[in-house]
Amino acid sequence: MVNRPRRLRATPALRGMVRETRMSADSLIYPIFVREGKGIREEIPSMEGQYRYSVDTLPYVLEETAKAGVPSVMLFGIPGEKDECGSGAYAEDGIIQKALRTAKKEMPELTYITDVCMCEYTSHGHCGVLDGQEVDNDRTLPLLARTALSHVRAGADMVAPSDMMDGRVAAIRETLDQNGFSGIPIMSYAVKYASAFYGPFREAAGSAPAFGDRKSYQMDFHNRKEALKEALSDIVEGADIIMVKPALSYLDIIREVANLSNLPVAAYSVSGEYAMIKAGAKLGVIDEEKLIAETVVSIFRAGSNILLSYFAKEIAAMIREGRIG
Ligand code: PBG
Repeated sequence: MVNRPRRLRATPALRGMVRETRMSADSLIYPIFVREGKGIREEIPSMEGQYRYSVDTLPYVLEETAKAGVPSVMLFGIPGEKDECGSGAYAEDGIIQKALRTAKKEMPELTYITDVCMCEYTSHGHCGVLDGQEVDNDRTLPLLARTALSHVRAGADMVAPSDMMDGRVAAIRETLDQNGFSGIPIMSYAVKYASAFYGPFREAAGSAPAFGDRKSYQMDFHNRKEALKEALSDIVEGADIIMVKPALSYLDIIREVANLSNLPVAAYSVSGEYAMIKAGAKLGVIDEEKLIAETVVSIFRAGSNILLSYFAKEIAAMIREGRIG
């Protein structure tokens, strides 16, 4: 026998030497929910260990995040009031705009990325304005561009459109450029599937659609080639980073997109992925930390360069302490 793969698995030192996937906390992004109100830090029932913060308590979690060694956050807003056209998304004193102004002042060393979408702000919970029962793509574009611009004016370092309207990357790029923000990158949720894995998030953000579903704008999870079509069109429109979402059931797609493009690829390990691990651990049927490690490594091994995860702080600690690659 000439080939004995076990030779290189014999000791921790050898396994460390030949390890193929190595991670860094620099590529982690921690999602945070901000809501109206004062003195609030409320646990999200569907996402144990994750909280909604009011603007005044937000600095605590920002400090915790920075201390954990996670350099970037993604902010999601939960407005006090919603309306038909989601005006809270682009309001001067909207929740994200206020959160950014405070965050940039209190914790300027973090990188602030904002989720650009309408669903948390519309009374009907869809990701754009309605024409009857349909989401009107082209009438939504200027509102998304306006939202992105208002985030950047309030201090966002990067914007991340998650609405899945056609042409929104181009619309946002054009508006940012015209207003002197040509240096602000766009991380596009380019390949976003219509997924039951978003369930806990929708409870967290109160953004479940009031009728129907998101299948007329988010992607059908039976499709692979369509992911390449979406990624390519966002690249042409000027996206700087391409995201695949969810992560765990879509490792094949992450690999395809990584092979296709010379842009950095991000993966969003979404709320349902987090909740499943938490629930399994609570039941005592899986080991939480080992499962976090294995799933995170699989996402990077599949080709992702960046990871959005509700476990970001834990992952950073695990990397620092040498408990994962
Ligand atoms: C907004 C948005 C969603 C998520 C990120 N941005 C929800 C959705 O599309 O319904 C999901 C994130 C998660 O589940 O963790 N459109």
